[in-house]
Amino acid sequence: MHRHYCGVLNASHVGEQVELYGWVHRRRDHGGVIFLDIRDRTGIVQVVYDPDTEESFQTADRVRNEFVLRMSGKVRPRRDGAENPNMATGEIEVLGHELEILNPSATPPFQLDEYSEAGEDVRLRYRYIDLRRPEMQKRLHMRARVSSVTRGYLEANGYWEIETPTLTRATPEGARDYLVPSRTHPGEFFALPQSPQLFKQLLMMAGMDKYYQLARCYRDEDLRHDRQPEFTQIDIEASFVREQDIMDLTEGMLKRLFSELLEVELEPFPVLAWDECLRLYGSDKPDLRNPLTFTDIGDLMQTVEFKVFNGPANDPKGRVVALRAPGGGQLTRKTIDGYADFVARYGARGLAYIKVNDLNAGMDGLQSPILKFLPDQVVSAVLQRVAAVDGDIVFFGADKTGVVNDALGALRNELGRELGLIAEGFAPLWVVDWPMFEEGQGGAVQAVHHQFTQPLCSPEALLADPLSAGAAAYDIVLNGYELGGGSLRIHTEAMQRAVFEAMSMGQEGESKFGFLLDALKHGCPPHGGIALGLDRLLMIMTGTQAIRDVIAFPKTQTAACLMMAAPSPVDEQQLRELHIRTRTP
Ligand code: AMO
Ligand code: AMP
Repeated sequence: MHRHYCGVLNASHVGEQVELYGWVHRRRDHGGVIFLDIRDRTGIVQVVYDPDTEESFQTADRVRNEFVLRMSGKVRPRRDGAENPNMATGEIEVLGHELEILNPSATPPFQLDEYSEAGEDVRLRYRYIDLRRPEMQKRLHMRARVSSVTRGYLEANGYWEIETPTLTRATPEGARDYLVPSRTHPGEFFALPQSPQLFKQLLMMAGMDKYYQLARCYRDEDLRHDRQPEFTQIDIEASFVREQDIMDLTEGMLKRLFSELLEVELEPFPVLAWDECLRLYGSDKPDLRNPLTFTDIGDLMQTVEFKVFNGPANDPKGRVVALRAPGGGQLTRKTIDGYADFVARYGARGLAYIKVNDLNAGMDGLQSPILKFLPDQVVSAVLQRVAAVDGDIVFFGADKTGVVNDALGALRNELGRELGLIAEGFAPLWVVDWPMFEEGQGGAVQAVHHQFTQPLCSPEALLADPLSAGAAAYDIVLNGYELGGGSLRIHTEAMQRAVFEAMSMGQEGESKFGFLLDALKHGCPPHGGIALGLDRLLMIMTGTQAIRDVIAFPKTQTAACLMMAAPSPVDEQQLRELHIRTRTP
């Protein structure tokens, strides 16, 4: 007799003697017979003990939830009417024979089937129990399969997995670093990598040609539902490639993953230019399952008297857009006021709207706080341009372009959800033709991707007008999440210096990235790559709302591990060895 897994038993095993190992999911005493639901990572099976096997029956009487058992017995069909169609093993049960308690369990801090009533804190503190839940086990299994298929795909395409250090120096991806003090170099620190960016470029310079890694990355940034302080990237780099090569490789990989693991055949991914993306959706990571789009109406508002609209309409850095939501006429005043508060979080100073009740009734068929400020023919022209029909609501945003994009882009997501407009399934998108730089706070020039991205112009042209330089960069977006980003890289010293200079970090570039500037002088091949967030990909593939759900041991909102109680104070001796004196706030 050899071990069987619980969840795989079915009618084909009837009559077989089986040996099972697992946890007590539930125990029921039906006067005279004891039912144990036994759980392992494959599922649950019902084992029955009756008084005929006296010793085992008594043991079964003593077991409680989460006890760990070994048992043997014979598979038999459930009696008529006792089948459970909701259970994979519901046609059969095991008539228990032997029963051994391998380990008892204290009463669990929460019932596995009532976990949702347990607070998130309790679940994270007892993560090893939370992870016993079948859906958590399924997600981690999916994670293992995604890693495995990814490796197989990249290996088959000639990519070598090469590990890069995690004790390194700061590699900038725009977040704060996690630092590790050095004992052997007093007063100096390693940084944990925000990504293997520079190492993978150096591997190309070393002639490795095609590299990948399932790389752990560390970023000390404000956490959200799709961000963790440590996370995993599918990190890829190749030499002598064009943008299209990396995009094709990535698209092929995602298609393979979805096909093999979800039986979903993805269509060829649409490609949108970055500025087109902002024009239509106000976002560089639009959820294409949502059909709503922006309509520019600035030209119609240039001569109206309503200042809220004519100001941005006449400002080269302003934007006036309409966002038509079919069926939005049913939204209550309260909901609309809620949206006005919502967009205010993105800096919007108001949220004008027109409800279209009855187009045939002309202005009388409309309901809106701004009709009195706008000439009738302007209102008609707007409604015509957005192709309004009865039952619609049309929202308006007028402000600096960035504010309008952020505010109405977020509103677009909200409306999509509220009005049930989001289609099922998966909507990938390539966003291409990115600008190299954007204007940061106080007019600072900062890289939109990172400062190793290849600009699409000469170093001279770049320095003459950095903000109009394009970049050989591409992002992959999935269901409204930025799933990955990549680019061709700078492979000449002159261009790398020009980029540092454009960002006013000439000196800093020299001191922090001297090794890179040196390497660029010693035979650097043209190269490029991409990195995909593995955790985000899994979050989308498993249909969960939180990245925590696809990570075995995630951190809390405040970047702590409740189970291990990390971070934690260390003793004085250890600090002294590291030459560190702490300053408590
Ligand atoms: P980027 O910074 O865009 O690019 O990161 C790539 C992808 O990693 C994921 N990601 C995260 N996932 C979870 N938690 C986080 N805190 C987090 N931060 C990022 C996202 C993101 O798209 N070196 C470049 C890539 C390259 O140019 O090849 C890089 O790291 O899904
Ligand atoms: P006000 O004249 O400020 O009371 O605004 C009149 C209407 O325009 C109200 O419905 C406001 O919500 C709306 N509104 C104000 N500012 C903006 C803006 N920047 N974008 C869109 N609508 C706005």
